[in-house]
Amino acid sequence: MSARGEHPPDLRGELAFRLLVDAVEDYAIFLLGPDGRVLTWNRGAERIKGYTADEIVGQHFSVFYTPEELAAERPKFVLQMATDRGRFEDEGWRVRKDGTRFWADVLITALLDDRGVPFGFAKVTRDLTERRAAEEQRRALFAEQQARAAAEEALRARDRFLSIAAHELKTPVASLQLSAESLQRSRDADRLDAQRLDTGLRRMGTAARRLSTLVDELLDVARLTSDHLPLELGRADLVPLVREVMERFDDETEPPRVRLEGLDAAWVDMDVARMDQVVTNLVDNALKYSEADAAIEVAVTEEETEVVLTVADRGIGLDAEAADRLFEAFGRGRNAEHHQGLGLGLYISHRIVEQHGGLIEANARDGGGTVFALRLPRSSPQPRRA
Ligand SMILES: Nc1ncnc2c1ncn2[C@@H]1O[C@H](COP(=O)(O)OP(=O)(O)OP(=O)(O)O)[C@@H](O)[C@H]1O
Ligand SMILES: [Mg+2]
Repeated sequence: MSARGEHPPDLRGELAFRLLVDAVEDYAIFLLGPDGRVLTWNRGAERIKGYTADEIVGQHFSVFYTPEELAAERPKFVLQMATDRGRFEDEGWRVRKDGTRFWADVLITALLDDRGVPFGFAKVTRDLTERRAAEEQRRALFAEQQARAAAEEALRARDRFLSIAAHELKTPVASLQLSAESLQRSRDADRLDAQRLDTGLRRMGTAARRLSTLVDELLDVARLTSDHLPLELGRADLVPLVREVMERFDDETEPPRVRLEGLDAAWVDMDVARMDQVVTNLVDNALKYSEADAAIEVAVTEEETEVVLTVADRGIGLDAEAADRLFEAFGRGRNAEHHQGLGLGLYISHRIVEQHGGLIEANARDGGGTVFALRLPRSSPQPRRA
């Protein structure tokens, strides 16, 4: 009993409960009949959806749905889901009385009788439009920051690349200049004998080839970022191609460092110029990444369906940290830092070989060094002409 002798309202009573529901402004809380018609309405529902109780009670709750959701029979579906599962939570666009849309979080609970038949539904709806807009804004901002960071990183990568490329290109140019100047000096002093001329020309040839390889690599890589390399495939023997590559290197090293063993012929379908580029890079790497007088073993063998070319060296070995980046553009091992290179050779080679339906593997060699294996599908012999 209160001091005034009145009965305090029973806060557990039905009236108090109805007052509570009605006072809630942030949630639309209302009941639907089993047929989906609105039975009750609260202040939150009026605020969020724009209808007064008089306007909406008795109407079917499908008036809150967008035409698209109506076409997909969404209202029927959600009541069915709530009946089957007891409750159903949904998010989506809903329509206010004035036709504007809001992003709603909806919870529908089925009110079931003893036999499990719904005698109505309780619906609680929240307007999440602002939260959704804020989230979208946050997402857009995040995406923008990411895009800006990627663009900045691309610029940094380009600058890094340009300085490496410039440095790499300058080395053979300097070598060309020095050899030319040295020949000129010998000539001026009347000391240009056959041996000096020979050495000078050989150095110039090496530098010019290095320059040309670098420029080709840069062109290839520019092309590969947007497309495949065009291939001219034809049935050809890999062994003479390997021999030719070796002879080119033999001209540069004294005594010759590359040894070839294995088959006398191994036929594959290939673009000869491109495969030359692959073999050249593998042999070039093997020579470059090992001692100046160490021998390189090249072998061509055949397996059931493949021709296998292996290039084995006793050099610096694979850098474990960089092992899975060697075939990526600019992927270089730390232990390769003191050797010239753009880190493009294996990337381009890998792409070329892939276009041939083959693959390149890199493995540590027993006893030290590295073995690269190039695997290409064997070419089936041409049918004889009758
Ligand atoms: N035979 C090898 N032994 C040890 N490491 C190797 C060998 N071949 C390649 N690598 C590693 O793989 C990296 C990538 O080789 P890749 O041929 O792509 O580039 P590069 O030789 O550095 O430069 P280039 O673009 O001139 O070929 C090398 O930088 C080196 O770290
Ligand atoms: Mg290389």
